[in-house]
Amino acid sequence: MIGIPEAFARSTVEREGEPGAAWLAELPRIVDDLLERWECVPDGEVMHGGVGVIVPVRRQAEGAAVLKVSFPHPGNVHEPDAFAAWGGRGAVLLHERDDERFAMLLERVRTSTLAEVEDGDEVVTIAGRLNLRLAIPAPPGLPRLREQAGAWEERLREDADELTHSMSRHVVGAAVATVRELGRAQPDTLIHGDLHARNILRADREPWLAVDPKGYAGDPAYDGGTLLKSRALTLLEADDLRKALHRTLDVFAEAAEVDRERAQRWAQFHAVQAAFWGRRHGFRMARGGSRLDWLTEFADRVAELLTR
Ligand SMILES: Nc1ncnc2c1ncn2[C@@H]1O[C@H](COP(=O)(O)OP(=O)(O)O)[C@@H](O)[C@H]1O
Ligand SMILES: [Mg+2]
Repeated sequence: MIGIPEAFARSTVEREGEPGAAWLAELPRIVDDLLERWECVPDGEVMHGGVGVIVPVRRQAEGAAVLKVSFPHPGNVHEPDAFAAWGGRGAVLLHERDDERFAMLLERVRTSTLAEVEDGDEVVTIAGRLNLRLAIPAPPGLPRLREQAGAWEERLREDADELTHSMSRHVVGAAVATVRELGRAQPDTLIHGDLHARNILRADREPWLAVDPKGYAGDPAYDGGTLLKSRALTLLEADDLRKALHRTLDVFAEAAEVDRERAQRWAQFHAVQAAFWGRRHGFRMARGGSRLDWLTEFADRVAELLTR
């Protein structure tokens, strides 16, 4: 039986409550069953991310692999579909899947991530190139982001009315305009959906490979916003935050071969969404108190600096 990392158990129960605890109690047995069925043997310390455990294993045919089992949540349903569509192009290979148990057997790559690279331009260039590589026609059955545009718009309007924040009407209006103008007309292109440096791992088959995709069909410029959001706090160290934000978008748009303007509009939308989300739900790094106030005000400022 494998041991479940304690930090993972704690955060799962905090986030999911009783269903989380019930799933954790089953998890060692689920892992054992899958190891047996897929003829794998454990091969190293169990790792984890936000929602899943990663068990390093070996299997005769493929050698080093990992077994990933995620908490059963609608947000994790399409991960194997995305890996299957990429077939190893820009992302780790999918060897096996068990959708009922939210489990996959994946190609194992190295444990170091793009987040360990110090040079910001290099991080964004690598992520941008990967974004381009991952932008292939989306298979049917994946969530179409354009179908979420109506709900996004409604949410923005409700949040703007109900929450206390320091964004001007112009800033919130720009996010709504992005949803109306870009959100409703997105192509059927496969996008990662959660592109950030910790989801990009060092590899040998290709220098960097993506893990942990949401698997959406939408505008490839959308993930420029996902990436920028993940880098915003790092950019605070720069002398000029506005310049650093815009530099990130320049570098991303060029590497990903997406329209610079679109990337900026999506990034602005993500910032406004984050500013509201933080006020309603908190962030993983701060659920309340002065730290959360500071983070939500920072999101307001980023949104403002990205508004045309
Ligand atoms: N294919 C893989 N090969 C090697 N390590 C991996 C692999 N997939 C995930 N990991 C490790 O596990 C961590 C969490 O994986 P991830 O898929 O991002 O989980 P989560 O969905 O919980 O965020 C990664 O940051 C990495 O360290
Ligand atoms: Mg992850």
